[in-house]
Amino acid sequence: MGVAFYPGSFDPFHLGHLDIVEQAVEMFGELVIGVMHNPAKPSGMFTPDERADLIRQSTQHLGKAVCVEKFSGLTVEAAAQIKATFLVKSARTTHDFETEQQMAQTNRAATGISTVLLFATPEHQFVTSTYLRQFAQAGGTIRTPLAPDCVLAALKAKH
Ligand code: PNS
Repeated sequence: MGVAFYPGSFDPFHLGHLDIVEQAVEMFGELVIGVMHNPAKPSGMFTPDERADLIRQSTQHLGKAVCVEKFSGLTVEAAAQIKATFLVKSARTTHDFETEQQMAQTNRAATGISTVLLFATPEHQFVTSTYLRQFAQAGGTIRTPLAPDCVLAALKAKH
């Protein structure tokens, strides 16, 4: 089926992301996770290198099925560079769904690449990087595992 490409800002990677990664590996066999810049989210907490490193630690159990790389520019250009056959994205809410639908249709019209939209398991569907960052910035304690241990430790270390 070829390699699939899962782009995102992953600032930071959480269990909703991990669930999408595990589903995509089951579906495609091989997945490249692309740490990208989201123009709608200008300021980040973790550097692209830190984000990529946390994803590598969090996906170690998937071995060679997963590869993590940093990209800049357009998602479709990154996908072409690695010869990806599909884009993998996810949506939590109807708002996300509409945004993803527009991006998927634009990307397909512009370059022919299709997007597969996956949904995280309900217990992790609500988790967002934004709220994890807000919790950490305010010194809040995350008591249940909403993100891999290495990410929770990194959030704690930042603040
Ligand atoms: O995890 P995010 O922040 O929801 O990821 C969004 C991301 C980075 C995948 C998206 O903003 C993106 O594709 N950015 C690259 C720019 C791009 O390709 N824009 C055209 C969209 S049709």
